[in-house]
Amino acid sequence: MRMVDLIRKKQENIELSELEIQFIIKGFTEGIIPDYQMSAFNMATYFTGMTDQEVSDLTMAMVKSGDQIDLSEIKGIKVDKHSTGGVGDTTTLILAPLVAACGVPVAKMSGRGLGHTGGTIDKLESIPGFQFEFSQDEFIELVNRHHVAIVGQTGNLTPADKKLYALRDVTATVQSIPLIASSIMSKKIAAGADAIVLDVKVGEGAFMKTLEEAQDLAQTMVRIGQNVGRKTLAVISNMDQPLGNAIGNTLEVIEAVATLKGQGPADLTELCLLLGAQMLVASNLVTSLEAGERLLQDKIESGAALEKFGEFIDAQGGDSSFINDSSLLGSARYQIPFKAKRSGILSHWVADSVGEAAMVLGAGRALKDDKIDPTVGIVLQAKVGDKVQEGDVLAIIHSNDENVADSLSRMEAAVEISDSVELLPLVYDIIE
Ligand code: URA
Ligand code: CA
Repeated sequence: MRMVDLIRKKQENIELSELEIQFIIKGFTEGIIPDYQMSAFNMATYFTGMTDQEVSDLTMAMVKSGDQIDLSEIKGIKVDKHSTGGVGDTTTLILAPLVAACGVPVAKMSGRGLGHTGGTIDKLESIPGFQFEFSQDEFIELVNRHHVAIVGQTGNLTPADKKLYALRDVTATVQSIPLIASSIMSKKIAAGADAIVLDVKVGEGAFMKTLEEAQDLAQTMVRIGQNVGRKTLAVISNMDQPLGNAIGNTLEVIEAVATLKGQGPADLTELCLLLGAQMLVASNLVTSLEAGERLLQDKIESGAALEKFGEFIDAQGGDSSFINDSSLLGSARYQIPFKAKRSGILSHWVADSVGEAAMVLGAGRALKDDKIDPTVGIVLQAKVGDKVQEGDVLAIIHSNDENVADSLSRMEAAVEISDSVELLPLVYDIIE
């Protein structure tokens, strides 16, 4: 087999076989196929796309390029959730204990990552004592005992994806649906998921800018799941404004606790109930989303979800007393209000810009080695559709530096107050 022939085949839109795709991924991972040939292949894929069979074969070839986490010693169907990335997305912190409280095992590996705020691990790290480095056996033991564990990534998962993503990044081939879909799905499958729930974000703050693109990506991933025997469900949700009110690590932990108490922001609560219900359906615990949402509501109202959150924090070495006293998590030195310059209806809170306003305070990292300041961030006091008066506080900036000029100017750029607004739904589509 010669790579040049396979590039030409892709260029001519002829379906590649499983063996051919394995040859490409194995060769590229091992350094036998050079970057320039792989780049040409990616560009051909960018223009001609892939069939469902090809994307599924590509996904499994990437899974096999590295270690695969074996979770078979955990009883039950292990469901993982993936979000394509939002601003202030606190859903994992809420869903993990909420779904576990229903008896479904949540065995999650999470990362730090780059972005407006830290990854789930960074958020949890703002809790005193919380540990996330566990051996594979300890991880399994934690899930079997508590139904939930969130640990840092171990092992060499999907090296093909890491190498491929780096190449796509510098060759303008990131935005290809089959390449994105296989990248995301391969990581979830390698991490041991039996079933997968996807939250595909669409909007100004998201990777997918249009509903059509988001639907295409979600449907492609759901079909990969079907083809490779991992039940996969997806939600397409709005990321025109940040989800919930808090953007920042400690601030989001506090928001997660409020939501688990049934006192969270409406949009965050709604999305968590829907994603959680999909996780319960994917694990075969319930047969309908309605039944799933009812069960989750019960766990919130009875206090079982919050109790599970505390149990999970304690099991991983943390001190869960902050659940009843959030001041134990510490707070930023300054709380600076961001006020409305005119009266009207809040018509725009550009998620990306709000995220950047939090990031420049130290809530997230631009570079891999940047340090995160857990206490800083932004808490919105108004959301799109709210009526506001000139001088009303729209958000509070939590900073350890008195000078927040950079953050303030990004907030200025993020907000729009108009005379009217067209309200967009939080959930655009549900794909099963
Ligand atoms: N996120 C991923 O994990 N992979 C992609 O290719 C794009 C976004
Ligand atoms: Ca949030």
